[in-house]
Amino acid sequence: MKSIVVYYSLEGNCKLIGNTVAETLNSPIIELKLRKPVPAKSPMKFIVGGRSAIKKTSPELSNSIPDLSDYELIVVGSPVWAGTFAPALRTFASKARIENKKIAFFACSGGGSTQKCISEMQFLFEGNDFIGDTSFVTPSLKDTENCIHKAQKWADSLILSL
Ligand SMILES: Cc1cc2nc3c(=O)[nH]c(=O)nc-3n(C[C@H](O)[C@H](O)[C@H](O)COP(=O)(O)O)c2cc1C
Repeated sequence: MKSIVVYYSLEGNCKLIGNTVAETLNSPIIELKLRKPVPAKSPMKFIVGGRSAIKKTSPELSNSIPDLSDYELIVVGSPVWAGTFAPALRTFASKARIENKKIAFFACSGGGSTQKCISEMQFLFEGNDFIGDTSFVTPSLKDTENCIHKAQKWADSLILSL
């Protein structure tokens, strides 16, 4: 089974989970990068990022998206921004045009619910077979070892459910 992990991360939390899932699945990984990055180290990130999420923008990516047709499982990860997924995922979805794949989502929040983010990602990737999701609260800052273990177990469960 060929799988790939695709995620966006501003502050490293989704990066941690994405890397863990990719290692467990033994799969390649794509970190989505914005051509015009959100300023990670400034409080402006909440205004710039929050506004782009609320306005449902499709910001330009600086990385090109490879052909994903060979992959059976695609794992997609996003931080929660203003209750929903980060806009880089929207750009990815429109470029990659993924259909009829197994798809699974992970989301990292700052403590709020990830439910809307996950269900909106399901809608974004409509036309695929949604096989699972998992959520974390700032895993690179809090309870990191347990979060890594949870991500490994989740990735294993994805393999078993195929
Ligand atoms: C622009 C912006 C909006 C955010 N909105 C929310 C939110 O609505 N709910 C929440 O729980 N956390 C929110 N957060 C916190 C992030 O979801 C959280 O820190 C997450 O773990 C970051 O993942 P990352 O390190 O991969 O970027 C927001 C952070 C940013 C930068």
